[in-house]
Amino acid sequence: MKGIILAGGSGTRLHPATLVVNKQLLPVYDKPMVYYPLSTLMLAGIREVLIISTPEFLPQYRALFGDGSTLGLSIEYAEQARPEGLPQAFTIGRDFIAGGKVAMVLGDNIFFGNGLVDLLRRAVMRPYGATVFAYRVEDPERYGVIAFGDRRRVIDIVEKPVVAPSNYAVTGFYVFDHRVCDFAAALTPSSRGETEIVDLARRYLDLGELHVEQMGRGYAWLDTGTHDSLLEASEFVRTIQHRQGIQIACLEEIAYLQGFITREQAAVRGRLFAKTAYGRAILSAIEN
Ligand code: TTP
Repeated sequence: MKGIILAGGSGTRLHPATLVVNKQLLPVYDKPMVYYPLSTLMLAGIREVLIISTPEFLPQYRALFGDGSTLGLSIEYAEQARPEGLPQAFTIGRDFIAGGKVAMVLGDNIFFGNGLVDLLRRAVMRPYGATVFAYRVEDPERYGVIAFGDRRRVIDIVEKPVVAPSNYAVTGFYVFDHRVCDFAAALTPSSRGETEIVDLARRYLDLGELHVEQMGRGYAWLDTGTHDSLLEASEFVRTIQHRQGIQIACLEEIAYLQGFITREQAAVRGRLFAKTAYGRAILSAIEN
């Protein structure tokens, strides 16, 4: 399976911090924000990745990851000229997807929790249909929200409703089957002037092929789109890393443990970052 990171957008809620820096390159505690969604794809076992960003900032992603080989990945890049909606990833990425299944993660979404790997892999392994993840939040009006019928059957998904039909928001990690590019191409923009990911999900729902997996209270799903949520995410990462002496989204550690890179490749990267806890985590992974 292939994976897409959508890392464009305008980042207006983070102005002026994002006037000359792309949101997804801002640090979340000790590493660029984009490391977290990339780690999510890697944990799902995905090694072929397309990073989509704006023409202005795409060169910086290339500088950061190159062809992906230091992580045992193949990373390609594509421009999104204007932020015209999340489903645009599937028209921009049509050649990359090449008629297969695809997972997409938003560049400003952070996932963490025990059992995450199994949850992601279950979605990735499904041969047909689409999978989205539902997460309970206090402020569902900011997100796509799930409407449940009797026996908790999913009956609809609505984008940023004035009155939310439930507290369950749709997170920024999605898995779609081979039909997604055609379905995305047929979408029309909403009143916001963008195509909507909920309309894409609804297409699968109408076919009876939408899987909604619940991410329970053992998981953290953080978005980093505002100054406060960005700081909170940094504090979360710092707290877990300090308390447990582990790293969240240490890409080389994940690559080594997944068998994407050799011990020697990991050692080179560990030495490169040896002054930081990030580097020491890589070196300690290869020692144990
Ligand atoms: P949003 O938070 O909806 O938008 P934004 O990042 O432009 O920020 P703001 O609302 O502050 O102006 O985007 C969610 C994620 O999806 C984020 O990682 C950026 C990305 N995105 C794109 O790359 N292209 C798009 O067309 C859209 C709508 C979002």
